Amino acid sequence: MTLLNELHQDHVNLNKLLAVLGNKLEKLKQGEMPNFVLLADAVDYITSYADAYHHPLEDQMYAFFKDSGCPELDQAISECVEEHRQLKKSSHEIIEAVDCILSDAVVPMDQFSDKLEHFINDQIEHLNLEEGTLFPLLDEVATEEQWKALEPHLPKRSDPLFGEKQKQRYIDLYSELLRDIQ
Ligand SMILES: [Fe+2]
Ligand SMILES: [Fe+2]
Repeated sequence: MTLLNELHQDHVNLNKLLAVLGNKLEKLKQGEMPNFVLLADAVDYITSYADAYHHPLEDQMYAFFKDSGCPELDQAISECVEEHRQLKKSSHEIIEAVDCILSDAVVPMDQFSDKLEHFINDQIEHLNLEEGTLFPLLDEVATEEQWKALEPHLPKRSDPLFGEKQKQRYIDLYSELLRDIQ
């Protein structure tokens, strides 16, 4: 599987989880209380997977292609790098807010749903920028030689903390989460 395909598959999975979170948000807005533990798990999953697996690959790829000579691509890359920082921040805010709710602190639900909405929208916007603009441009601009030259810079798939085993653990966790949260 090529790197772009692999990252695309991650996006498909993340998108499904975000759609489930979007349903929870709608119900929350109608006054229904979601299972906050599962909600926190889903947000936590999105963040940890991004930190541990998805973003390290993307960040190396972006660093490698950042002066591609294609202004649209360079622009999309610098936006995405900044968004990775923002996404990390907003997911930690959500996890903190859920922790407060779980420890019985008073958190106004409208404030919480605003935060959650913000988080979901930022995640979706980011996926759309990568899927709709950045990846297609990269696919067009990058040469076979460049993809080969990038390979040694990527985190090693044989690394136990990063590689296939770790990825399988995440996929198992993902399937469990998706089943439980529906
Ligand atoms: Fe990204
Ligand atoms: Fe991504």
